[in-house]
Amino acid sequence: MTYASASQVARQILEGPLTRPALLRWRRRLFFSEAGFACYFGVFKDFDEARDWLPPNPEFDHAALAAEYVNVRTKKVFAYDYPVMWWLERAFRDGATRVLDIGGSVGVHFYAYQRYFEMPQALSWHVVEVPAIAAIGREMARQAQASALSFTHTDALEQALAGNDIWLSAGALHYLDHARPADLLKQCERRPRHILLNKLPLYDGEDYVTAQNIGAGCFAPMHVYNRQRLIDEVEALGYALRDEWQVPERSLYLPGFPERCIPAHSGLYFGALGGASQGVDGALGDRGACT
Ligand SMILES: C[S@@+](CC[C@H](N)C(=O)[O-])C[C@H]1O[C@@H](n2cnc3c(N)ncnc32)[C@H](O)[C@@H]1O
Repeated sequence: MTYASASQVARQILEGPLTRPALLRWRRRLFFSEAGFACYFGVFKDFDEARDWLPPNPEFDHAALAAEYVNVRTKKVFAYDYPVMWWLERAFRDGATRVLDIGGSVGVHFYAYQRYFEMPQALSWHVVEVPAIAAIGREMARQAQASALSFTHTDALEQALAGNDIWLSAGALHYLDHARPADLLKQCERRPRHILLNKLPLYDGEDYVTAQNIGAGCFAPMHVYNRQRLIDEVEALGYALRDEWQVPERSLYLPGFPERCIPAHSGLYFGALGGASQGVDGALGDRGACT
């Protein structure tokens, strides 16, 4: 028996009716401890209910959470980055120059990916982030003279949506309360031709909200999405799912809810069909045109 299957069997036994209450007590204690970093706990109606249950904390808006991104992820790509780089490079070759990167940390993808392929001269790479991380990103960009890179805060997300060729969001969209991709598209007058979503918690069950220990004493609510519904909603707005991939490096074990666990997160690439593609050039400027 492999280690993975042995631990799966152990989990199945612990999830049984007799041991489940003790399992939940143990996992709840673990969740709130330092050793609970990256663990998940609980099923909530919405972000408000999760926040009422969590201790008051800054969530992602905490400078200490930038350290790994500054020191590692600006310099290194991981296996799950390759599909994104593949489609991004093709989009750039196809004339795309404007990237909106939702939850792009200090600009990690901008810095790490540019070592692998050439980015356009006229590049604009706009990151939407929480204030503490955006402030660090701005200062890094100033020092690196990375004039293509700019930052805004989440409360300006709606204004930042329009007029980009590419929307990118890696491991981030599910931490925003109201950011289903289709809802963002509906808010956007001039929609992107390319949508690249990486490291998303997708599965075949019902949507739900859970909470994650994100380190440095911080905790965040997050969405888990039904895969097909999320894809159908985007496709209904004039896009086709052109690629999808598994991210086995990210999984979700939710104690007490084996049916809601996710063995691997997902990546998705959507390309605009004719109409939405024109929208980016303003030809379909009116909001109703693509909805
Ligand atoms: C797991 S990290 C992923 C960072 C990066 N995209 C990557 O793949 O390495 C999640 C990112 O989402 C950002 N984030 C969380 N909530 C956010 C919000 N409400 N608005 C903007 N960014 C947010 C966090 O600050 C963090 O940088």
